[in-house]
Amino acid sequence: MARKKIIAGNWKMNMTPSQAVELVNTLKPLVANDDVDVVFCVPAIDIVPVVEAAKGSNIQVGAENMYFEEKGAYTGEISAPMLVDAGVKYVILGHSERRDYFKEDDALLNKKVKKAFEAGLTPILCCGETLEQREMGIAVDFIRTQIKSDLVGVSADQVKTMVIAYEPIWAIGTGKTATTEQAEEICKAVRDCIAEVYDQATADAVRVQYGGSVNAGNAAELFAQPDIDGGLVGGASLKPDFGDIVNYKK
Ligand code: 13P
Repeated sequence: MARKKIIAGNWKMNMTPSQAVELVNTLKPLVANDDVDVVFCVPAIDIVPVVEAAKGSNIQVGAENMYFEEKGAYTGEISAPMLVDAGVKYVILGHSERRDYFKEDDALLNKKVKKAFEAGLTPILCCGETLEQREMGIAVDFIRTQIKSDLVGVSADQVKTMVIAYEPIWAIGTGKTATTEQAEEICKAVRDCIAEVYDQATADAVRVQYGGSVNAGNAAELFAQPDIDGGLVGGASLKPDFGDIVNYKK
Protein backbone atom coordinates (compact mmCIF):
# COMPACT_ATOMS: atom_id res chain seq x y z
CA MET A 1 0.00 0.00 0.00
CA ALA A 2 1.71 3.17 -1.17
CA ARG A 3 1.53 6.23 1.00
CA LYS A 4 1.02 9.52 -0.85
CA LYS A 5 3.89 11.91 -0.26
CA ILE A 6 3.06 15.08 1.63
CA ILE A 7 5.25 18.11 1.12
CA ALA A 8 4.50 20.97 3.47
CA GLY A 9 5.99 24.42 3.76
CA ASN A 10 6.34 25.93 7.21
CA TRP A 11 6.55 29.65 6.68
CA LYS A 12 7.28 30.29 10.38
CA MET A 13 7.07 34.03 11.24
CA ASN A 14 7.52 35.25 7.68
CA MET A 15 5.29 37.03 5.16
CA THR A 16 2.85 39.84 5.82
CA PRO A 17 -0.66 39.22 4.43
CA SER A 18 0.07 41.04 1.19
CA GLN A 19 3.43 39.31 0.75
CA ALA A 20 1.69 36.00 1.47
CA VAL A 21 -0.79 36.48 -1.37
CA GLU A 22 2.03 37.42 -3.71
CA LEU A 23 3.99 34.30 -2.73
CA VAL A 24 0.98 32.02 -3.25
CA ASN A 25 0.41 33.54 -6.68
CA THR A 26 4.07 32.97 -7.57
CA LEU A 27 4.17 29.39 -6.28
CA LYS A 28 0.74 28.23 -7.45
CA PRO A 29 1.82 27.19 -10.96
CA LEU A 30 5.15 25.83 -9.68
CA VAL A 31 3.60 23.44 -7.15
CA ALA A 32 0.80 22.14 -9.40
CA ASN A 33 1.38 18.40 -8.93
CA ASP A 34 -1.45 16.10 -7.91
CA ASP A 35 0.86 13.16 -7.24
CA VAL A 36 1.74 14.65 -3.86
CA ASP A 37 -0.17 16.52 -1.17
CA VAL A 38 1.00 20.14 -1.05
CA VAL A 39 0.41 22.11 2.14
CA PHE A 40 1.30 25.70 3.01
CA CYS A 41 1.45 26.20 6.78
CA VAL A 42 1.28 29.92 7.30
CA PRO A 43 1.11 32.50 10.10
CA ALA A 44 -2.36 32.92 11.59
CA ILE A 45 -2.88 36.37 10.12
CA ASP A 46 -2.12 35.04 6.63
CA ILE A 47 -4.58 32.14 6.76
CA VAL A 48 -7.65 33.92 5.41
CA PRO A 49 -5.93 35.63 2.45
CA VAL A 50 -3.89 32.49 1.65
CA VAL A 51 -7.01 30.26 1.61
CA GLU A 52 -8.59 32.75 -0.79
CA ALA A 53 -5.49 33.02 -2.99
CA ALA A 54 -5.07 29.23 -3.12
CA LYS A 55 -8.67 28.59 -4.28
CA GLY A 56 -8.85 26.41 -7.37
CA SER A 57 -5.28 25.14 -6.88
CA ASN A 58 -3.90 21.95 -5.31
CA ILE A 59 -2.55 23.92 -2.34
CA GLN A 60 -4.03 23.00 1.03
CA VAL A 61 -3.60 25.39 3.91
CA GLY A 62 -2.26 24.60 7.35
CA ALA A 63 -1.74 26.53 10.58
CA GLU A 64 1.52 26.60 12.52
CA ASN A 65 -0.09 26.25 15.93
CA MET A 66 -3.44 26.33 17.76
CA TYR A 67 -4.77 26.19 21.32
CA PHE A 68 -6.66 23.21 22.73
CA GLU A 69 -9.61 25.10 24.20
CA GLU A 70 -12.72 25.62 22.09
CA LYS A 71 -13.14 29.33 22.90
CA GLY A 72 -13.03 31.79 25.76
CA ALA A 73 -10.67 33.94 27.75
CA TYR A 74 -7.33 32.90 26.23
CA THR A 75 -5.98 36.19 24.94
CA GLY A 76 -3.93 35.85 21.80
CA GLU A 77 -4.78 32.22 21.09
CA ILE A 78 -6.53 30.63 18.11
CA SER A 79 -8.90 27.67 18.39
CA ALA A 80 -9.34 24.62 16.20
CA PRO A 81 -12.91 25.63 15.17
CA MET A 82 -11.59 29.03 14.06
CA LEU A 83 -9.03 27.30 11.84
CA VAL A 84 -11.60 24.91 10.39
CA ASP A 85 -14.03 27.72 9.65
CA ALA A 86 -11.27 29.63 7.85
CA GLY A 87 -10.61 26.67 5.54
CA VAL A 88 -7.56 25.17 7.25
CA LYS A 89 -6.95 21.40 6.86
CA TYR A 90 -3.67 20.79 8.70
CA VAL A 91 -2.03 22.11 11.84
CA ILE A 92 1.62 21.83 12.85
CA LEU A 93 1.87 20.89 16.51
CA GLY A 94 4.95 20.63 18.69
CA HIS A 95 7.45 22.26 16.37
CA SER A 96 10.80 22.43 18.18
CA GLU A 97 10.63 26.23 18.09
CA ARG A 98 7.34 26.10 20.01
CA ARG A 99 8.69 23.50 22.42
CA ASP A 100 11.85 25.52 23.00
CA TYR A 101 10.91 29.23 22.85
CA PHE A 102 7.32 28.90 24.08
CA LYS A 103 7.84 26.04 26.51
CA GLU A 104 5.21 23.73 25.03
CA ASP A 105 5.50 20.34 26.68
CA ASP A 106 4.17 16.91 25.79
CA ALA A 107 1.18 17.18 28.15
CA LEU A 108 0.04 20.37 26.41
CA LEU A 109 0.73 18.92 22.98
CA ASN A 110 -1.31 15.83 23.77
CA LYS A 111 -4.31 18.10 24.46
CA LYS A 112 -3.71 19.98 21.23
CA VAL A 113 -3.41 16.79 19.16
CA LYS A 114 -6.69 15.44 20.55
CA LYS A 115 -8.45 18.75 19.98
CA ALA A 116 -7.20 18.96 16.41
CA PHE A 117 -8.64 15.52 15.62
CA GLU A 118 -11.91 16.35 17.36
CA ALA A 119 -12.26 19.44 15.14
CA GLY A 120 -11.43 17.54 11.94
CA LEU A 121 -7.93 18.94 11.45
CA THR A 122 -4.97 16.76 10.49
CA PRO A 123 -2.09 17.26 12.89
CA ILE A 124 1.48 17.43 11.65
CA LEU A 125 3.14 16.44 14.90
CA CYS A 126 6.82 17.32 15.15
CA CYS A 127 9.49 15.46 17.03
CA GLY A 128 13.26 15.66 17.02
CA GLU A 129 16.38 15.56 19.10
CA THR A 130 19.04 18.13 19.96
CA LEU A 131 22.63 17.66 18.83
CA GLU A 132 23.60 16.88 22.41
CA GLN A 133 21.00 14.10 22.62
CA ARG A 134 22.20 12.66 19.31
CA GLU A 135 25.80 12.67 20.48
CA MET A 136 24.75 10.96 23.72
CA GLY A 137 23.10 8.23 21.68
CA ILE A 138 19.61 8.88 23.06
CA ALA A 139 17.94 10.37 19.96
CA VAL A 140 15.65 7.42 19.31
CA ASP A 141 14.68 7.05 22.99
CA PHE A 142 13.88 10.75 23.21
CA ILE A 143 11.76 10.77 20.06
CA ARG A 144 9.88 7.66 21.13
CA THR A 145 9.01 9.36 24.40
CA GLN A 146 7.80 12.47 22.58
CA ILE A 147 5.56 10.47 20.27
CA LYS A 148 4.14 8.18 22.92
CA SER A 149 3.40 11.09 25.27
CA ASP A 150 1.87 13.28 22.58
CA LEU A 151 -0.41 10.47 21.37
CA VAL A 152 -1.86 9.29 24.68
CA GLY A 153 -5.56 8.63 24.11
CA VAL A 154 -5.33 9.02 20.33
CA SER A 155 -6.88 6.09 18.44
CA ALA A 156 -5.25 3.96 15.75
CA ASP A 157 -7.78 5.22 13.20
CA GLN A 158 -6.77 8.79 14.00
CA VAL A 159 -3.06 8.05 13.82
CA LYS A 160 -3.56 6.48 10.38
CA THR A 161 -4.64 9.87 9.04
CA MET A 162 -2.02 12.04 10.72
CA VAL A 163 1.45 13.18 9.81
CA ILE A 164 4.52 12.95 12.01
CA ALA A 165 7.46 15.17 11.11
CA TYR A 166 10.93 14.17 12.24
CA GLU A 167 12.99 17.33 12.51
CA PRO A 168 16.41 17.03 14.11
CA ILE A 169 16.84 20.37 15.89
CA TRP A 170 20.47 20.65 14.79
CA ALA A 171 19.40 20.51 11.13
CA ILE A 172 16.78 23.28 11.29
CA GLY A 173 17.74 26.47 9.52
CA THR A 174 21.42 25.52 9.77
CA GLY A 175 21.96 24.30 6.22
CA LYS A 176 23.12 21.11 7.93
CA THR A 177 20.80 18.40 6.62
CA ALA A 178 20.73 15.02 8.27
CA THR A 179 22.28 12.47 5.97
CA THR A 180 19.79 10.38 4.08
CA GLU A 181 20.74 7.43 6.30
CA GLN A 182 20.23 9.42 9.52
CA ALA A 183 16.86 10.73 8.33
CA GLU A 184 15.66 7.30 7.21
CA GLU A 185 16.87 5.67 10.42
CA ILE A 186 14.77 7.91 12.64
CA CYS A 187 11.74 8.03 10.34
CA LYS A 188 11.78 4.23 10.47
CA ALA A 189 12.13 4.35 14.25
CA VAL A 190 9.05 6.60 14.37
CA ARG A 191 7.11 4.07 12.31
CA ASP A 192 8.35 1.17 14.45
CA CYS A 193 7.21 3.05 17.55
CA ILE A 194 3.72 3.44 16.05
CA ALA A 195 3.67 -0.29 15.18
CA GLU A 196 4.57 -1.10 18.77
CA VAL A 197 2.01 1.19 20.40
CA TYR A 198 -0.74 0.51 17.83
CA ASP A 199 -0.28 -2.14 15.12
CA GLN A 200 1.43 -2.67 11.78
CA ALA A 201 -1.54 -1.42 9.74
CA THR A 202 -1.43 1.90 11.59
CA ALA A 203 2.34 2.16 11.14
CA ASP A 204 1.97 1.41 7.43
CA ALA A 205 -0.63 4.17 7.03
CA VAL A 206 0.85 7.05 9.06
CA ARG A 207 2.89 9.49 7.00
CA VAL A 208 6.31 10.43 8.35
CA GLN A 209 8.05 13.51 7.00
CA TYR A 210 11.63 14.62 7.33
CA GLY A 211 12.35 18.29 8.05
CA GLY A 212 15.56 20.24 8.46
CA SER A 213 17.31 22.10 5.65
CA VAL A 214 15.37 20.30 2.91
CA ASN A 215 16.14 21.94 -0.41
CA ALA A 216 15.78 21.37 -4.15
CA GLY A 217 19.12 19.54 -4.18
CA ASN A 218 18.50 16.97 -1.45
CA ALA A 219 14.72 16.40 -1.63
CA ALA A 220 14.76 13.61 -4.23
CA GLU A 221 17.19 11.43 -2.31
CA LEU A 222 15.46 12.00 1.03
CA PHE A 223 11.98 11.34 -0.33
CA ALA A 224 13.13 8.14 -2.06
CA GLN A 225 13.71 6.47 1.31
CA PRO A 226 11.16 3.81 2.23
CA ASP A 227 10.06 5.47 5.48
CA ILE A 228 10.22 9.13 4.41
CA ASP A 229 6.85 10.23 3.08
CA GLY A 230 7.76 13.80 2.21
CA GLY A 231 9.12 16.85 3.93
CA LEU A 232 8.39 19.75 6.23
CA VAL A 233 10.25 22.60 4.62
CA GLY A 234 11.17 25.91 6.26
CA GLY A 235 13.39 28.37 4.42
CA ALA A 236 13.06 26.81 0.97
CA SER A 237 9.24 26.96 1.13
CA LEU A 238 9.41 30.74 0.75
CA LYS A 239 11.13 30.56 -2.61
CA PRO A 240 10.44 29.24 -6.11
CA ASP A 241 12.69 26.32 -5.02
CA PHE A 242 9.61 24.94 -3.28
CA GLY A 243 8.26 24.10 -6.74
CA ASP A 244 11.36 22.00 -7.41
CA ILE A 245 10.95 20.23 -4.07
CA VAL A 246 7.30 19.43 -4.82
CA ASN A 247 8.36 18.18 -8.27
CA TYR A 248 11.37 16.29 -6.90
CA LYS A 249 10.73 13.41 -9.28
CA LYS A 250 11.14 15.53 -12.41
P1 13P B 1 14.47 24.72 7.45
O1 13P B 1 13.98 23.99 6.24
O2 13P B 1 14.58 26.19 7.26
O3 13P B 1 15.71 24.09 8.01
O4 13P B 1 13.34 24.54 8.58
C1 13P B 1 12.88 23.29 8.87
C2 13P B 1 11.70 23.41 9.74
O5 13P B 1 11.78 23.75 10.90
C3 13P B 1 10.37 23.13 9.14
O6 13P B 1 9.40 23.05 10.12
